[in-house]
Amino acid sequence: MDNKNSYRLRVHNLSKHFVLHQRGGKRIQGFTDVSFSVRRGELLALTGVSGSGKSSALKTIYRTYIPSRGRIILESDDDSAVDLACCSESEILSYRRHAMGFVTQFLKILPRISALDAVAAPLLENGVDREEARQRAADLLDALNIRRELFNVSPLTFSGGEQQRINIARGVIAPRKLLLLDEPTASLDEDSAGRVLKLLHRLKKQSISMIGIFHDRERMEQVADSEYQMQLERL
Ligand SMILES: Nc1ncnc2c1ncn2[C@@H]1O[C@H](COP(=O)(O)OP(=O)(O)O)[C@@H](O)[C@H]1O
Ligand SMILES: [Mg+2]
Repeated sequence: MDNKNSYRLRVHNLSKHFVLHQRGGKRIQGFTDVSFSVRRGELLALTGVSGSGKSSALKTIYRTYIPSRGRIILESDDDSAVDLACCSESEILSYRRHAMGFVTQFLKILPRISALDAVAAPLLENGVDREEARQRAADLLDALNIRRELFNVSPLTFSGGEQQRINIARGVIAPRKLLLLDEPTASLDEDSAGRVLKLLHRLKKQSISMIGIFHDRERMEQVADSEYQMQLERL
């Protein structure tokens, strides 16, 4: 059973600095001593001024960036736990496949793949058969108000807001238990943003945990259960 009161992720004193080898080892602070927890089925919003390290924090949790210091404890539904800060690259790849997902503002897919197939792909990887996967992808694209005439077109030709919705659809159609969202509603109008927020509410009911960065406080407050404010270090 999934215990709603237990944690999904606990981040302790996480820090990241960058060393620019091209510039004689110059050190740039990403963020320092970040600590927060996210329960199962909750969304935590990361806030703070531009440059305070919000995107870097998500990339560090996803291990795109190697942490400089700290712990990132990810718990499974069976209450087993791992520290993403120090597990191996192959373990990280496995956690990315099964336990955590990352949705950015930017769509990265191969050319000549239709919107429907791009969104259905994560279900196929999970062994769902093609017809069902395409049907579920179509339902999700309908929910996100993507016009049906676009379903068989490559999303690379779509508008920014349409691409962003394809990206979100891909990220949530077969949701991992922890989702990292970097400004998922940044280029969306009110109607589309509202639809995305509704989708995030639905994910919370499925005990999916999320860490989100929202450029708009009003949208953030509609969906976040808690907030962690990143501090801009003044060196
Ligand atoms: N790959 C990188 N190499 C060097 N510095 C970086 C890198 N990524 C981020 N930074 C620096 O880390 C700081 C935080 O950036 P970022 O996480 O993008 O902030 P935010 O998302 O809050 O606007 C910035 O000063 C940025 O220049
Ligand atoms: Mg950012």
